[in-house]
Amino acid sequence: MTFLITAGPTREPIDPVRYISNRSSGKMGYAIAEAALDAGHDVILISGPVNLTPPRSTNFISVSNSDEMFDAVHQHADSSDISVLCAAVADHKPAQVSPVKIKKRAGEFSLELVPTRDILQSLGWRQDRKFLLVGFAAETDHLEANAWQKLRKKNCDIIVANDVRVGMESDENELLILFRDGETKRISRAPKNFLARELVKIFLNSQQKSLTKKM
Ligand code: CTP
Repeated sequence: MTFLITAGPTREPIDPVRYISNRSSGKMGYAIAEAALDAGHDVILISGPVNLTPPRSTNFISVSNSDEMFDAVHQHADSSDISVLCAAVADHKPAQVSPVKIKKRAGEFSLELVPTRDILQSLGWRQDRKFLLVGFAAETDHLEANAWQKLRKKNCDIIVANDVRVGMESDENELLILFRDGETKRISRAPKNFLARELVKIFLNSQQKSLTKKM
């Protein structure tokens, strides 16, 4: 099987020296890539800027901003059997990128932001999609309700939800997994590499089930 995995944050440029980003470490996505490789699968890892070494023998694609990640995912998704969008893509980017460094000015100033394209949603609603599509939901409140809403809105097969206060920048996480057919599964707090191995098994199992249904 081939896994496409996105990981890490994106950086949305403001000018040549500044950007908007978030605290995603990329650890969960890299752990899933590692677990899939260990289980004998092929991995295309599309990563934003992180302080991690890509696992050996991945097809590794390094990107910086959300537009680059969008293009890389769309270019490679059809080569995958399972696409796992773990990256913390910025929801907004500056409306204009200044080609020169913005100088300090006296008093307040505001930055106009526009929405980025939602990569998961754009794949979810593709009519010809053949691969299993997994999204992540990082929440601080109403975890389960928000995660169900994301699954329906983005039309994916599985949402892996976590409370950001537990998982962000940490080596451990606690997961709630929601399936399109209404099933749910919980995995209690554990190291991210243990969770990654469990997730790979769960994704393969779902992919197998959806193949059998289509036959
Ligand atoms: N995602 C994406 N493209 C974006 C934003 C998010 O593909 N522009 C994906 C993420 O990779 C993740 C899922 O959507 O798999 C959910 O991301 P999250 O940030 O939790 O959800 P949002 O849709 O951004 O909603 P909100 O920030 O309001 O919770």
